[in-house]
Amino acid sequence: MHRRFDGKSVLVTGASQAKGIGACAARRFAAEGARVALAARSADGLEAVVEEIRQAGGEARAFPTDVSDLKACEALIRDVVTAHDGLDVLVNNAGFNARGEVEDTPWSELAAVIQVNLLAPVVLTRCALPQLRERCGAVVQVASIAGQIPLESEAAYSASKIGLRTFSFALREELEGTGVRVSVVSPGPVSTGFILDDLDNVPDLIFAQPMSSPERIADAVLDCAVDGPRERSIPARSSFMARAGALFPSLRHAVTPLLEKQGRAAKAAWRERAKGDVPA
Ligand SMILES: NC(=O)c1ccc[n+]([C@@H]2O[C@H](COP(=O)([O-])OP(=O)(O)OC[C@H]3O[C@@H](n4cnc5c(N)ncnc54)[C@H](OP(=O)(O)O)[C@@H]3O)[C@@H](O)[C@H]2O)c1
Repeated sequence: MHRRFDGKSVLVTGASQAKGIGACAARRFAAEGARVALAARSADGLEAVVEEIRQAGGEARAFPTDVSDLKACEALIRDVVTAHDGLDVLVNNAGFNARGEVEDTPWSELAAVIQVNLLAPVVLTRCALPQLRERCGAVVQVASIAGQIPLESEAAYSASKIGLRTFSFALREELEGTGVRVSVVSPGPVSTGFILDDLDNVPDLIFAQPMSSPERIADAVLDCAVDGPRERSIPARSSFMARAGALFPSLRHAVTPLLEKQGRAAKAAWRERAKGDVPA
C-alpha cells in the first residue's frame, strides 16, 4: 500500500473519543506512516487510542490539552514540534456544542463554544504556520454543514463553524503560492457521541440528513491534507440543501416542517439502536 504520510508529523486535536472523528483520523494517519500527536482533555481517552495505534505498529503520542486555554494551544504546537521534530499537518478537529435557545443558555457556555471551535483553531493555526510554511504542510479544519446555514438552537455552534470556514478561506488566499494547503471538511450529521449522546437536544431537522460514519469523514480529512481542496462537504447533497436554505429563507421555512417530520422518524430509529434493540 502506498503510504501518503510516511515520516510526516501530524497533530490531530479532539482525538480522545475512540469512536470519534479525531481518533479515526489519527488511526488512519498512523496507518499511512505518520508520527501522530493526539490532543484533547481526557488523558485516559488519548492513551487508549495511542495504545491501539502502537499495537497496530504505528507511532503516536498523547498531548493532554484543553484547547479552550489559548496559551496551552501555543504550548501544544511547541511541544509537538519538539517531540516529533517538526509539524507537517495540523487537523483542528476538537469541538463541542451547547444546544438550546440562546436565552436559555448561560453566556459562559456560548463563549466556550466560540473559544473551542473558533478561537483555538485560529491560535493553533497561527502558531503552526512557520513550521507548515517551512515544510509545505497542510491545515485541515473540521467545520460543519451547520457552518453553511444559520441553525436555530445551535446559534453559537453555527456561528463558530461559519467563522472557522471564513477564517480558513481568507488564510488560504493569504498563503497562495507558499505551498501550504488550507482545507475545510464540513460534515453533516456523523454517528459519534457528539450527537448520539445528546439525542433529546439535537434538533429533529438534523436527522433528516443522511448520517455519515466517522471513518468517512476521517478519509476526507486525509485526502484534504494531501490534495488541499478549498472545502469538502459530506454529504454533498445536504450541503447543497443548506446553501439553498441560507440563500432563500422563505423556501427553507416552507420545507422545514416536512424535514422535521422525517428527522423525528430517523431520530426515533437511532434511539432504538442506542438501546441496543436494533443492530447499528
Ligand atoms: N458528529 C457530528 O454530527 C458532527 C457534524 C459536523 C461536524 N462535527 C465536528 O467534528 C468534530 C469532531 O466531532 P466528533 O463527532 O468526533 O465528536 P466527539 O466524539 O464528541 O469528539 C469531540 C472531541 O473534541 C474534544 N474536545 C472537546 N472540547 C475540547 C477542549 N476544550 N479541548 C480539547 N479537546 C476538546 C473531545 O475530547 P475531550 O472531551 O477529551 O476534551 C473529543 O475528543 C467537532 O469539531 C464537531 O464540531 C461533528
